[in-house]
Amino acid sequence: MDPPPLGEVARRAGGGLGRRTVLAGALALSACGPKAQSQPIPADLPPLRSVAPFRVGACVQALHLDDPALAALLVREVSQLTPEWQMKMEYIVQPDGSFRFEAPDRIAAFARAHGMGLLGHNLVWYAQTPEAFQRLDENRIGFADAYRNYIHAVAGRYRGQVVGWDVVNEPVAEDGNGWRDSLWAQRLGAFEHIALAYRTAHEADPDAVLLLNDYNLEYFPKKRATYLNLAERLLASGAPLTGLGAQMHVAADVPPGEITRMIRDLASLGLPIHVSELDVSLTRAENKLLSRAELQRRQTAVYAEAAEAFMALPERQRFAFTLWGLRDRDSWLRAENAADAPAVFDDAGRPKAGAAALVDAFQGRRPQA
Ligand code: XIL
Repeated sequence: MDPPPLGEVARRAGGGLGRRTVLAGALALSACGPKAQSQPIPADLPPLRSVAPFRVGACVQALHLDDPALAALLVREVSQLTPEWQMKMEYIVQPDGSFRFEAPDRIAAFARAHGMGLLGHNLVWYAQTPEAFQRLDENRIGFADAYRNYIHAVAGRYRGQVVGWDVVNEPVAEDGNGWRDSLWAQRLGAFEHIALAYRTAHEADPDAVLLLNDYNLEYFPKKRATYLNLAERLLASGAPLTGLGAQMHVAADVPPGEITRMIRDLASLGLPIHVSELDVSLTRAENKLLSRAELQRRQTAVYAEAAEAFMALPERQRFAFTLWGLRDRDSWLRAENAADAPAVFDDAGRPKAGAAALVDAFQGRRPQA
């Protein structure tokens, strides 16, 4: 899970969206040809951000901000941005150990200029262990200083600008058996490096919500249990964990009900919940017998379930609802499979049925049959 600047390479520029291209149902159907969705999409679909009683987010790369169509769509639809990869170590930490901040600074400035929230993503990730850290000797104290220094530098730079941080990303082992091994765990201890990251992030930015973030929590109850267990242990140790994120990179054939159960389980600790990286892949669906049209129908239902389950949370537990790519063409999943269309806006920025389902759910309406 660590394809580096590839993110940058895989994105294409261009696209022309204006207010007028939010098409009426009939027109949208004819424009989409044989892959058309069955549900008509209202011509006057309101922006997601205008109907949601919480922040709606999207991930973004600095490059995206040079695409006027995408920039306009972001401003219209969302109220929070998560840097897709440029606030991670892979971008910030240079081979000589110095830090660079051009791209995340641009994203932060864009968020500020448009009155959007900014979500820091992420401080510590098993998948990213830059050379400069690997080179440090085994001396635990020196390593801990460098680790704390990094968190202070990054979380301190964006202090007061971010609403929160994914402090530790993906700490739970793939099969749910304990926590992941990593350079951080080896040098600082499996639990200790996690707790230390939270304590340090809190020193650097005492007002930021400090989140844990992981994936497959809806697919694997065992992984979910380990995740919740880690959260409880952190809280018991006094670590300032103040929010829980579920990435929700799901496929269109995820069994109905799994997402609702997962969101309820996570909410049982009483912390704010972040749907942090939602996308619903068509091509990752395991059931190869389903037609594309059926997968599209299920995709819409999955978006609806996620939004309804989130809406069912007490207001104070709704941290934010973030889409991992606003248009299909912006999605990281396109690099994996060019035929995927996992987002709620199509390549041209037109809302798909998933967007209408989100609007319905955020307004407290059940989707139309
Ligand atoms: C992905 C980005 O989408 C890519 O552009 C980047 O190259 C690699 O990371 N879990 C996470 C995200 O927490 O940071 C990942 O994002 C997707 C999986």
